[in-house]
Amino acid sequence: MSKDLNESVSMESETVAIIGGGNIGRAITEGLVRCGAIDPTRIVVTRRQVELINDLAGMGVSVQNDNLDALKRSNVIIIAVRPRQLKDLLEGLRPELEPGRHMIISVVSGIDIREIRGIVGNDIPIIRAMPNLAASICESMTCLAAEKEHNDALSRAAALFDNVGHTLVIDEELIVPATAVCACGVAFFFRAIRAASQGGIEVGFHSEEALEMAAQTAKGAASLLINGNMHPEAEIDKVTTPRGCTIAGLNKMEEFGFSSAMIKGMRISAEKAEELVNKD
Ligand SMILES: NC(=O)c1ccc[n+]([C@@H]2O[C@H](COP(=O)([O-])OP(=O)(O)OC[C@H]3O[C@@H](n4cnc5c(N)ncnc54)[C@H](OP(=O)(O)O)[C@@H]3O)[C@@H](O)[C@H]2O)c1
Repeated sequence: MSKDLNESVSMESETVAIIGGGNIGRAITEGLVRCGAIDPTRIVVTRRQVELINDLAGMGVSVQNDNLDALKRSNVIIIAVRPRQLKDLLEGLRPELEPGRHMIISVVSGIDIREIRGIVGNDIPIIRAMPNLAASICESMTCLAAEKEHNDALSRAAALFDNVGHTLVIDEELIVPATAVCACGVAFFFRAIRAASQGGIEVGFHSEEALEMAAQTAKGAASLLINGNMHPEAEIDKVTTPRGCTIAGLNKMEEFGFSSAMIKGMRISAEKAEELVNKD
């Protein structure tokens, strides 16, 4: 959360509708239930093929395919549909949106607040959020953006997403790049862990052992940076003894483009995220 936001927002009066119970809608739902900050009976999740989210009902949340009914039961509306589905969805919701009661949090990539406002009008606070799949285990990195006049709504959105991980308030123009870093980023690190486990197999471990070793080592490295507020290079210096095996491995990886592959991949993901609307 940012220093400018109200950090004492209570979850007690929040009732949440998650419109679009797909990958990310489901992850947010699971995280909100897991963290316990909101009673599951105050969460409703929708999708048209409602049978695919019936299992969420077992967690105590309501599942349904009636978006307007979900709106009537909620004050926070998290929208998690694909970009090309957003316009029709918002047009369907518009008649039931109540200024002073509802706020919209859109996790949809590539569609900005101005476009959403063009459909729902000026009186509904709109927040853009870019979480990732680790919301399901309350370890998301979620970036948030809003217009200046909606700081109160932004505080509420940040308080909500703080329950499912870390939040960072950014300028709206950076939400698309944040998609590459945070949302796509999960896949980049999965691939990095898979590569490390394949290396582990090459040097003598069974695949399950190698995967466990790679994933826990990645988790430990990330925790060292987060808990100790350290820079990666400072931590790398502690592992690289002169003429040692770590620096030899690192330099070989760089010779094959390790850092530049990650940077170039992230850049192209950000470019694609910009182009996504109407093409997914
Ligand atoms: N996946 C991620 O890690 C991630 C992270 C951050 C942001 N996002 C963004 O979040 C959005 C969703 O991504 P996703 O990966 O979760 O896609 P997804 O799995 O396809 O989920 C979209 C969901 O929306 C539902 N839906 C579509 N139209 C609907 C309607 N009119 N009413 C109710 N539900 C409706 C779909 O179900 P039915 O077809 O059954 O209705 C589907 O379950 C995208 O814009 C994406 O850019 C995704």
